Amino acid sequence: MSTQPQLIIVLAAGKGVRMRSDLPKVLHRMGGRSMLAHVLSTAREAGAARPALVVGPGMEAVRAEAKAVAPDIEIFEQANQAGTADAVLAARPALESHRGDVTVLFADTPLVEVATLRKLGETLQAGAGIAALGFEPADAAGYGRLIVDGEGRVTAIREHNDASEAERRIRLCNAGAMAFRILDLAGLLSRIGKANAKGEYYLTDAIALAAKDGHATRPVVCSEEEAMGVNSREQLAAAEAVFQRRARARAMQAGATLTAPDTVWFSFDTKLGRDVTIEPNVFFGPGVVVEDGVEILANCHMEGVRIRQGARVGPFTRLRPGADIGVAVHVGNFVEVKNARLEDGAKANHLAYIGDGRVGEGSNIGAGTIFCNYDGFNKQFTDVGKGVFVGSNSSLVAPVKIGDGAYIGSGSVITKNVEADALALERSEQEQRPGWAAKFRTMMGRRKKSR
Ligand code: UD1
Ligand code: CA
Repeated sequence: MSTQPQLIIVLAAGKGVRMRSDLPKVLHRMGGRSMLAHVLSTAREAGAARPALVVGPGMEAVRAEAKAVAPDIEIFEQANQAGTADAVLAARPALESHRGDVTVLFADTPLVEVATLRKLGETLQAGAGIAALGFEPADAAGYGRLIVDGEGRVTAIREHNDASEAERRIRLCNAGAMAFRILDLAGLLSRIGKANAKGEYYLTDAIALAAKDGHATRPVVCSEEEAMGVNSREQLAAAEAVFQRRARARAMQAGATLTAPDTVWFSFDTKLGRDVTIEPNVFFGPGVVVEDGVEILANCHMEGVRIRQGARVGPFTRLRPGADIGVAVHVGNFVEVKNARLEDGAKANHLAYIGDGRVGEGSNIGAGTIFCNYDGFNKQFTDVGKGVFVGSNSSLVAPVKIGDGAYIGSGSVITKNVEADALALERSEQEQRPGWAAKFRTMMGRRKKSR
């Protein structure tokens, strides 16, 4: 049996009313990217040669997100939300021009795994006309029930509202994903009526029709976690919890130590090397790459950054997009780095803002140093050379260049370039008045008594 080119149709035309949001439901994020992006990338990994998407009228942001994730996606509009079968038929041109398997996925079910989609495909290869994904939830209320006969065929899917008492006792429920190897699928779906509780065209009714036509219709079972659908913010949080649990397990299996895994938050694309240690309360936004042997101490927030071998970050460090933390660099508490490269061995151990700049190899940035990168209109660059010592509480007003090996005296406001190996000092001279403090105390003491 051959694997056929797959058309995967993702349904996203639903309004998602229960989210109570101005943002379309499928654009809400899990693990740092939209549910839609999760589903589209799972579809791609599962071998979707042709991804397609069904959206509702006016869902421009959903279209844009889909194009960003899958530039070759075909997008169709469902004019009225007349049900899931009607939604699939909105993609009729794709269905009719396709020779091969068709899989339908829901964009609000973001945790379905590639291996499960492959199982649907294998079930088709083994001779089924339809493979329907089922699961056994703790609470089945609201889901369609898979009615399975003595030979393991699904003879029908009954929506909760249309099910009898006996049918409602069935535990195997419809997860939504369904794969088809039926030549005239559009023809089959066109025969679906809407004589049901909601007056909608149910995709699930394709099962009974196909079974009557003599197609084998088989269930594939997945875990409740995978089948979790997101209709509300609570369910979004529950899905996020599952995503994070998976990500933490993957990180540890790949050789990272997480001292308190439940407090570390990953993004869909976080990359960790071997022997990385992550202490409690660390948040990874999108685009973080952590190389081998890096230590991330407690309470750090990072996004869009590369942390190179053996570096030590934290506690309480914020790394923003474009930060590049070199080999064996130390970045400590209350240091913020944005769009700046810290070359190998550089140190910024306390209280600093390093934005739009470079810190050369082995340089030391003292406590309280600020890269003044913004004049209210433009961002400017600060270039600190190799082996530079920037004394505490210095302001480097960009654009400015500090030569290799230079020394900046504490508290200086540096507005002009500094030559290599020079000392730059910008402070008013210190005045000293001998005995002043003692006299002052005596005077204040007398006043207090006379009051
Ligand atoms: C659906 C299934 C149910 C299953 C459950 C699993 C049907 C009839 N019911 O019910 O058997 O147990 O999912 O979560 O299929 N959509 C459109 N256009 C429409 C209607 C829906 O694109 O006209 C999309 C939605 O955006 C969503 C998906 O289809 O992504 C499912 O629709 P939804 O209304 O959430 O179906 P459920 O009632 O959850
Ligand atoms: Ca749903």
